[in-house]
Amino acid sequence: MTISLPPSLLATLPGHYYTDPTVFALEQERIFESMWFAVARSSDIGTPGKFETVDVGRESVVLVRGRDNQLRAFLNVCRHRGAKLCLDSAGEVKRALQCPYHAWTYGLDGKLVAAPNLTKMPDIDRTEWGLVPVHLREWLGYAWVCLADLPPSFEDTVQGAVANRLGEVSMIDHWEVDELSVGHRIVYDVRANWKLVIENFMECYHCATIHPELTEVLPEFADGYAAQYYVGHGAAFGEDVQGFTVDGSEGLDRIGGVGEDQDRRYYAITVNPQVFVNLVPDHVIFHRMYPVSADRTTVVCDWLYTKEVVASGKDVTHSVELFHRVNVQDFEACERCQPSMSSRAYAKGGVLVPSEHHIAAFHEWLTDRLAT
Ligand code: FES
Ligand code: FE
Repeated sequence: MTISLPPSLLATLPGHYYTDPTVFALEQERIFESMWFAVARSSDIGTPGKFETVDVGRESVVLVRGRDNQLRAFLNVCRHRGAKLCLDSAGEVKRALQCPYHAWTYGLDGKLVAAPNLTKMPDIDRTEWGLVPVHLREWLGYAWVCLADLPPSFEDTVQGAVANRLGEVSMIDHWEVDELSVGHRIVYDVRANWKLVIENFMECYHCATIHPELTEVLPEFADGYAAQYYVGHGAAFGEDVQGFTVDGSEGLDRIGGVGEDQDRRYYAITVNPQVFVNLVPDHVIFHRMYPVSADRTTVVCDWLYTKEVVASGKDVTHSVELFHRVNVQDFEACERCQPSMSSRAYAKGGVLVPSEHHIAAFHEWLTDRLAT
């Protein structure tokens, strides 16, 4: 199919990009099933036999930790007659994954290890008929999968996005994100297209209007220029603010590797197509988006703290509450826009003001991917 490109980079995408199931199907094929996609916190699948299932584009993927402690990803499809292998979103098995249909059984390394009456079918190759593997990388304590036969470079596309924002990819190492623990997690069901969520995250033109708590903590956000607008820029905390909390009250101890330069600052990173990382001195807020349909997106938000903070049971509610409010305010705004995407008033889209111009680069990236 051909897709009409937006008339100008300073215009937004036309409304049908946010509503049309054929656009969404193309995005599933050329974006979600072709790029690196963050699917799980590795520590949630921390011991042999633990598994999680997740939808990536039109496919279901199962992530399972093997007896060798290795995390692996497979298409969640039985090779016999195609039944969905694992039906639960998470669970634990002893030694193998067994299909609920005719009981073909797969080792945690994906090999076919048993099938009823298989002795009567001596020719079957147990490796050939094992689960179909999916490319997997672990970074920042998350498992990222890619369904493409030949994945794009993880270094260029995922780590490159972080480098583009922070100036150098190694700067994120200061937060030791893979070592942090999940102190809190909220799953949001957002009735809006995934691109509205990204576009909203990329700009701060709305901050003064809808984020009263955030602009108290980060006064420069009231001017409408998001931290993401400048390479390497961290938005400074207000003078009277003690921590990145809902009321500006004191936060927790700085994460070990975070230096003076990054103290009392907030950094935001977008990794296309579905990850946002927010860095503050004492915690990290990590968003993963799961586009469900043209008008629905699941967002999983993790608040990550040092192991010591989580183990000690210290009160983190003041920091959780700040970004939870930001999330709710943002997602309500996205949900307010979604129904209007099919209005005649938005058939040709809207317009980007100067502080939103970097969203044009996202639109260019998207239309390029859909055109290939
Ligand atoms: Fe899985 Fe038959 S479909 S064992
Ligand atoms: Fe916002």
